[in-house]
Amino acid sequence: MKHLELASGARMPAFGLGTWNSAPGEVGAAVRTALELGYRHIDCAAVYGNEAEVGDAFARAFADGVVAREDVWITSKLWCNAHRESEVGPALERTLADLRCEYLDLYLVHWPVALRADASPPAGPGDYLSLEEVPLEETWTGMRGVKARGLCRHIGVSNYSSKKLRSHAAFDDPPEIDQVEMHPYLRQDRLAGAASEHGVRLMAYSPLGSGARPATLQRSGDPVLLEDPTVRAIAAELSATPAQVLIAWALERGTCAIPKSTNPGRIAENLGGASLELDAASMARLDALDRGLRYVHGAFWAKEGSPYTVETLWDGDV
Ligand code: A2P
Repeated sequence: MKHLELASGARMPAFGLGTWNSAPGEVGAAVRTALELGYRHIDCAAVYGNEAEVGDAFARAFADGVVAREDVWITSKLWCNAHRESEVGPALERTLADLRCEYLDLYLVHWPVALRADASPPAGPGDYLSLEEVPLEETWTGMRGVKARGLCRHIGVSNYSSKKLRSHAAFDDPPEIDQVEMHPYLRQDRLAGAASEHGVRLMAYSPLGSGARPATLQRSGDPVLLEDPTVRAIAAELSATPAQVLIAWALERGTCAIPKSTNPGRIAENLGGASLELDAASMARLDALDRGLRYVHGAFWAKEGSPYTVETLWDGDV
């Protein structure tokens, strides 16, 4: 298993299982299968609504001796309705209770967007809190607090632009990770440059093109990454699959990839991508596919009455 060295010197498995859009009744079995196959990183979030089932799978896998807790890297995320400093600890305690763990390896601020505690999902303009009301620095102070209490070993952010990452680099105990959408259609070179400058590692979500994203995120005309002719051609040349090529591309770039699957055959297939090697020519062909395409476009945060816009969310990063 490849690892990424974080700014603190910790080694994080560079490949893991995503659980966004993994249905209740399926996600626990997927986690169990992944751990049995040798996955050592599981990516979770409170808002996915399935952490209790994931936690049952962890508890059983640890009790059955499939793997020891300390040999699995568990990531989860703070939802937007708990951004005030005093709300971060209770939110993480709920996630730890659901996941049936005493600590997380990594806890991330899920979005640079704040909501009222009782307003998730937001139903109207009054449900949003602006970043003037709850500055990201306040949320970060809460994150540092839960790390100091030992509830998580590392802290980071998700969906943060290069501009927001730079602003956080000046904070005490800056983020070690930014988890963002990243694949050959969305290389995110500007963000990658800022991350490398500030010693932040990137985790690529939706590395296969987010085929399971909810209907609200589906736009007609969006190309299907797994069907891209270049991806398919490289897969055929290497006797690999398109998903394996996309995973190998992410790892070759020095990012972590967390493809989602609840299908046992595809969970195994994706692990094979973590040991696939791509040569420089194949990497260049994949790099050339970049078109700044976000499947998780963020327009859902920019509804009428929201203080957030797509522009202020991504700060011009493509
Ligand atoms: P499934 O869970 O049925 O396997 P992403 O990680 O980019 O969000 O992509 C997840 C989507 O890709 C899901 O729809 C998942 O479906 C599908 N998927 C996962 N692994 C593979 C694979 N090896 N080949 C094809 N589709 C895959």
